[in-house]
Amino acid sequence: MPSARLTVDPAFAIGDVRRKLFGGFVEHLGRHVYDGIYEPGHESADAEGFRTDVIDLVKELGVDTIRYPGGNFVSGFRWEDSVGPVSERPRRLDLAWHSTETNEVGLHEFSSWLEKVGSDLMMAVNLGTRGTLEAIDLLEYSNIRSGTALSDRRIANGRTEPFGVRMWCLGNEMDGPWQLGHRSADDYGKIASQAAKGMRQLDPDIQLVVCGSSSAHMPTFGEWERVVLTHTYDDVDLISCHAYYEERNGDVDSFLASAVDMDGFIEKVVATADHVGAVRGSSKKIDISFDEWNVWYIDRFHGVDKIQGIDNWPVAPRLLEDSYSVLDAVVFGNLMISLLKHADRVASASLAQLVNVIAPIMTEPGGPAWRQTTFFPFSITSRLAKGAALRVKLESPTHTTAVYGEVPLVDAVATHDAEAGRSALFLVNRSTTESIEVSVDVAALGDLSVLETHTLTDDDINAKNTLADRERVAPRPNESVRVEDGILTITLPPVSWTAVALG
Ligand code: AHR
Repeated sequence: MPSARLTVDPAFAIGDVRRKLFGGFVEHLGRHVYDGIYEPGHESADAEGFRTDVIDLVKELGVDTIRYPGGNFVSGFRWEDSVGPVSERPRRLDLAWHSTETNEVGLHEFSSWLEKVGSDLMMAVNLGTRGTLEAIDLLEYSNIRSGTALSDRRIANGRTEPFGVRMWCLGNEMDGPWQLGHRSADDYGKIASQAAKGMRQLDPDIQLVVCGSSSAHMPTFGEWERVVLTHTYDDVDLISCHAYYEERNGDVDSFLASAVDMDGFIEKVVATADHVGAVRGSSKKIDISFDEWNVWYIDRFHGVDKIQGIDNWPVAPRLLEDSYSVLDAVVFGNLMISLLKHADRVASASLAQLVNVIAPIMTEPGGPAWRQTTFFPFSITSRLAKGAALRVKLESPTHTTAVYGEVPLVDAVATHDAEAGRSALFLVNRSTTESIEVSVDVAALGDLSVLETHTLTDDDINAKNTLADRERVAPRPNESVRVEDGILTITLPPVSWTAVALG
């Protein structure tokens, strides 16, 4: 059996694991909101129409801040439509997803849902088809206590306390030609700077995220970040990254190495941001909000799923309802390892998305809700990764992939919570054929024993949880784990994701 060696030492801290790293994303898209989190006729629905079975799963998932209301949706969104008496709210065309938005769920309802799941709101403003004034208006409506037209309107609409939204995204994917109001980096940078300045004049305590690239493979990648940050460096706190991965052409080895791409993406954006800071002689650091990441079979969406036709604007159609396999979940777990490995500069991240739409949680109208395979790496990492993220010294066998060249077969990161005396290890085996025995030197962590282990793997890497078989896949304890004389050994099966908690 091939072997790998790791050394874990609390002296090699990367940075604190900020809870915002475990954020989510709810977009008005497909069956995410309607027939997803909100289904008034469902047997589990509460008085406000929210499914309590979904609320329970979202809590179990352990999501922190949730980005809302889009995504591509936000670039056509008029926030005023989503507040006030529900019966008076307009039905609007959603051009991004060729659907009808009923506005039955809006800012007040969604905030109430967030209180139920225990998460904070991260709001996106429309800088695609709207501008600074509308962004400021929404901020006034949300964050000013009372005594102005818009804060009093919020109070009249039933919400006395301000929503107190701290994180704001300045538009969405403005580099993408598919985006309503898509612009050049220069044009977007100027608008984002003006909107940011105005918003800060109103509320200096907000955190602002400027749009970075929609993927590291956009033709404008790198130059987009440089130009946009040159305009906005003093005005914003974070720059966004978005990345989706899928298996293409049956190339499982490259797909399993997707986190190599994410690592490179983050490191290049950090380098570009720091370059802009250096040119300006600024001591300020711009962090990353990785506010869309996941496995997504985008090629499939561009094929069969697309809705078309001037008379065809459905409400809550089935869109982007990817069903995730064990293989997808291993890649997904590795993406979380990549985020933790960059905890010094990735201050915030949002799994895209949460329910039904490329989501860890699925629902059937009038039926059950269940956990997809990707649910498990997220919920376990969110629960166990505490304290500081640690850089591990890794010696691993490698193999060659078509897309990323030579890559290590094992990838890993550790966390250490000095106060609680707890540590955790997260590992993947990217080999499709071989188990790998990993020896981890944990002596520097002190006298710890294994509290729990979870390995997600299956003889059938295409196994999924579906409506018909909702609990087909789940992580299992890894019985191979041993700790002796400061060395932990564990066997990682082929195509597997593993978490080990020590304390
Ligand atoms: O998450 C689905 C879509 O992916 C979002 O609306 C958009 O921002 C991205 O292209």
